[in-house]
Amino acid sequence: MTIHSNPAAGLDGVAAAVTALSHVDGEKGELIVAGSRIGELADRTDFEGLVARLWAAATGREVDAAEARRRLARGRLAAFERLPAILPATAGMPMVDAFRVAVAAVAPVEGLEAEAAIVGAMPVLAAALVRQAEGRAPVAPDPDRGHAADLLRMMRGDVANAEEAKALDAYLVTVADHGMNASTFAARVVASTQANLFMAVTAGYCALTGPLHGGAPEPVLDMLDSIASKDRIAGWIDEALKRGERLMGFGHRIYKVRDPRADVLKRAVERLGGRGTDLGFAAEVEAYARRALEAAKPDRRLDTNVEFYTAILLDALKIPRRAFTPVFAAGRSAGWTAHALEQQRTGRLLRPSSIYAGAKPE
Ligand code: ACO
Repeated sequence: MTIHSNPAAGLDGVAAAVTALSHVDGEKGELIVAGSRIGELADRTDFEGLVARLWAAATGREVDAAEARRRLARGRLAAFERLPAILPATAGMPMVDAFRVAVAAVAPVEGLEAEAAIVGAMPVLAAALVRQAEGRAPVAPDPDRGHAADLLRMMRGDVANAEEAKALDAYLVTVADHGMNASTFAARVVASTQANLFMAVTAGYCALTGPLHGGAPEPVLDMLDSIASKDRIAGWIDEALKRGERLMGFGHRIYKVRDPRADVLKRAVERLGGRGTDLGFAAEVEAYARRALEAAKPDRRLDTNVEFYTAILLDALKIPRRAFTPVFAAGRSAGWTAHALEQQRTGRLLRPSSIYAGAKPE
């Protein structure tokens, strides 16, 4: 067994926290966040409402949705004021790095909790960096708009219609939290040292960027572009698997069936009505990939994960693909802050051991 497939090396099945925030059942294909199934949340709660529930569960204090909305709006305004100090330091950098520098530069805001300063800052930073890369000036936040609608407005410079805002809101809700995923674990490790939330969230973002985690949607779109037409699906996928490549948007450590978030996002794209990628083509790629993976790895149960329809949804919302991971971070920052707060309140220093395989002293 190589180190890559050794379950111990991946901490498979190890519980690293006791949490009231979210639970993933990989056999049933079920995700519960703050007490509700993800499909119901996406239909009934907006991002601010879910943020309130996560922060309340993490701190044990009541937080209502209107209060979370006000705090996030304040966080957006405060981040915008800091842009003149942040943007020059990121000029010319690839987006993934520019966003890391920007996230690391988010600072405490007087009279505002760290969690609101951080989650509030994310859409402002993502939007301003996209516009900077296009040679355009940042657009100021509008505290009267919802978080998702304001993100689209600040990034694109025009007001998103209600369906678009709702679709992005459903996306932010869907990805807000997801058990002990790698970036949340990274954030909790940092918070477990009693380092502050700004440190914990920076670590979370860094872990998110890899293609095995939140860096996958951009390559999903590259794959769909490269396949290009229905008659090329089988040949393209067979060749990729023959070369030993991983198909982006498929497979998951915990889910052994379809990721329930994929269905929520697919519905959100369908409601947008035919913008961006042809959904019929995408569904054929998905179906063929699932069959090919089953044939190539019969013992693995590899199915569609959240990133496949994330890519299609964010593209349909005209979000540039280099901003996919920062937009993911805008949603997941809700979970990172909640987990960091919970870890600090209820957890212990996270300090695992290792198996020594190096040289022994004489
Ligand atoms: N395509 C082809 N083969 C795959 C894929 C895939 N998408 N996923 C896993 N496999 C194979 C591996 O090559 C490995 O084969 P082997 O045992 O013959 O070496 C086997 O299935 C198991 O792989 P692991 O790496 O042990 O699976 P793990 O649970 O660690 O990985 C992961 C999960 C990282 C998501 C993996 O499925 C993958 O790389 N998928 C593609 C990238 C992706 O979609 N990332 C987004 C994940 S969702 C998220 O984090 C938000």
